[in-house]
Amino acid sequence: MGALLKITLIGIILALLGQRLKQLAYQANFWGEVKPVELPNCQYLKGIEYGSEDIEILPNGLAFISSGLKYPGMVSFAPDIPGEIFLLDLNDEELLPSSLRITGGLDISTFSPHGISTYIDKDDTVYLFVVNHPHHKSTVEIFKFAEEENILVHLKTIKHKLLYSVNDVVAVGPESFYFSNDYYFTSFPMRMMELFLDLMWANVVYYSPGDVREVASGFYSANGIAMSNDKKYIYVADVFGKTISIFEKLANRSLSPVKVVQLGILLDNLSVDPVNGDVWTGSHPNGMKVLHYNPEDLPGSEVVRIQNIHSDNPIVTTVYANNGSVLQASTCASVYEGKLLVGTIFHKALYCELD
Ligand SMILES: *[C@@H]1O[C@H](CO)[C@@H](O)[C@H](O)[C@H]1NC(C)=O
Ligand SMILES: *[C@@H]1O[C@H](CO)[C@@H](O)[C@H](O)[C@H]1NC(C)=O
Ligand SMILES: *[C@@H]1O[C@H](CO)[C@@H](O)[C@H](O)[C@H]1NC(C)=O
Repeated sequence: MGALLKITLIGIILALLGQRLKQLAYQANFWGEVKPVELPNCQYLKGIEYGSEDIEILPNGLAFISSGLKYPGMVSFAPDIPGEIFLLDLNDEELLPSSLRITGGLDISTFSPHGISTYIDKDDTVYLFVVNHPHHKSTVEIFKFAEEENILVHLKTIKHKLLYSVNDVVAVGPESFYFSNDYYFTSFPMRMMELFLDLMWANVVYYSPGDVREVASGFYSANGIAMSNDKKYIYVADVFGKTISIFEKLANRSLSPVKVVQLGILLDNLSVDPVNGDVWTGSHPNGMKVLHYNPEDLPGSEVVRIQNIHSDNPIVTTVYANNGSVLQASTCASVYEGKLLVGTIFHKALYCELD
């Protein structure tokens, strides 16, 4: 090959790479800045210092908070401390979370909790589903919540070849759930390659004993997953797609696409207001600052509410935004009677009042 041809080819490849990098920088908000939006009466939840990745509030105001996630490529302020599940009673003005004791033989030393979900059966038994990453693998742990003793009784570890990079879970029965795989690959460099090449290989899977199957695919990075209050729809957040996909849940548990809502934000987890069905999410103002943690240039936090998500014109409002001086790397936001809880990947947890 002639020297000129080689130079031309290298030039074309570099130009394509440059083009893709530029696109990726846009996709992941590498230049994102925060316009602050404040809320009155915010305070930290005491004792939560190493993340509050997911928050699930029961109808009676008890909130479960997962803390201490270790995740490839993500900073952890306490890499040697096992993960915990905190319980917070939102009816109690003291707002004091307590770390729940776990019994039933789960290996606590490798507990790395990620997304959580609850299922309440006819007898009011509360089951807690927790995405876990022991040794960077993916399992779903099912617990029974013994409320009188404040204990989580471990019932079962779910493993399956389709659980490979699980992010979040939404329970639909005492042993059945939908979950999202945020990447196809499990190692950090391969994930970055997956992102760079725009592979859209992330998916949503339905699990029940005896019936496990992919029910939706084609996401850049499927993250938060939640269910509408009438239990007819499943919402899936795609971080790098910056969208929420709405699916109808069919009788055989397959998902039928309804529509995709473009949001233009790096949304992480989803929760649904139990009263009016509004969808709440924590989002990342700047993807680079989350992936590449720098204490001198902190990742910020954003809480976004989407009203009337099923209508042609959903109303999208930034309810809270901070540059990291108060809260870093928000993932989720849950509401209960005018109170807002905001969780983060590896930082603290914030409580605010909405009105
Ligand atoms: C997101 O929030 C929903 C509802 O609060 C919860 O079921 C889910 O587990 C959360 N997932 C993550 C990854 O934070
Ligand atoms: C589920 O039901 C839908 C609609 O009835 C059908 O098209 C689909 O093939 C079914 N899927 C499975 C796996 O049974
Ligand atoms: C972050 O926001 C706080 C409060 O809004 C402000 O005082 C501070 O200067 C900001 N920091 C940076 C680095 O922009």
